[in-house]
Amino acid sequence: MELHHLLKGKKGIVFGVIDSHSLAWQVACKCVQEGAEVVLTNTEQAMAIGQTRQLAQTLGAPVIPCDAVKMPEIESLLKESMRVFGGKIDFILHSVAMSQNMRRHKSYTDVNYAYYNTTMDVSAISLHKLLQACMKSDALNEYASVVTLSFIAASRFMETYGDMSDAKALLESIVRNMGGIYGQKKRVRINAISQSPVITRAGQGFKEVHYFHHFAEQMSPLGLASAEDCANLCVMMFSDYSRGITMQTLYNDGGFSQTVMSGKFIEFFRDTMEGLNTVNKDRK
Ligand SMILES: NC(=O)c1ccc[n+]([C@@H]2O[C@H](COP(=O)([O-])OP(=O)(O)OC[C@H]3O[C@@H](n4cnc5c(N)ncnc54)[C@H](O)[C@@H]3O)[C@@H](O)[C@H]2O)c1
Repeated sequence: MELHHLLKGKKGIVFGVIDSHSLAWQVACKCVQEGAEVVLTNTEQAMAIGQTRQLAQTLGAPVIPCDAVKMPEIESLLKESMRVFGGKIDFILHSVAMSQNMRRHKSYTDVNYAYYNTTMDVSAISLHKLLQACMKSDALNEYASVVTLSFIAASRFMETYGDMSDAKALLESIVRNMGGIYGQKKRVRINAISQSPVITRAGQGFKEVHYFHHFAEQMSPLGLASAEDCANLCVMMFSDYSRGITMQTLYNDGGFSQTVMSGKFIEFFRDTMEGLNTVNKDRK
């Protein structure tokens, strides 16, 4: 894609790069290509096993560790980022999620409640904490843009997405409420991008993920939105071209969320369906 330097002069924090499959990896690369300066952050544990530091080296970006549920670490991330940038922050990507219940294939009705609390804390409340810390330290410039990544199961039933569905619903609610307050206070914009499935560490968290990818691909009129599509949308959301957008969940999903049944899906399953019709006729 042609470069437009849409983020020239902007400074932002990118959470959630663990390896080259991470959505945040693509976002960080695109932001730098478009002229931004970025700080990369993740937990110490994730960085010890992942490739956050390698990407940081390639991009010439500082790395500041932060566990997104620990307020003192969030506060020092903001302070240190402002020191590195020599001023306030223009954008933040919150790309953070984890569910021990999903990792252990615990069904929605059989969750471990200690894990459930952690799922909420890491995957949703961490955004609340981050925004509260930003407000208290006045870390964001006017019209700064904060984007978090969500999923369709925030508002639609999807059994295999387990307790993460509740976390995403809470996340989108935090986007609305904090967006309303921060918008009035400082013209800060807060939005969620509800992304098509992409195979990543977190994206492989639920059972039968490959079936779902196939299904979503057939059901999305444009096909699945890729990690690169997600990064391009993030760049747009961090740029001045989206100054009027806040408190939204934007569906970057190839049309999946608006589709009941696509022609592609019918074609894909025609043989199976015709087989079923024969069985039904035989029953009559
Ligand atoms: N991959 C998909 O299909 C998909 C679809 C829609 C939304 N999302 C969302 O995108 C976001 C990024 O996920 P991904 O798919 O790139 O997977 P990923 O595993 O690459 O990223 C998840 C990140 O969260 C970080 N993290 C976990 N606990 C943390 C903590 N306490 N503090 C700070 N960071 C922590 C991990 O270290 C990791 O870098 C998640 O919110 C995910 O739910 C993913």
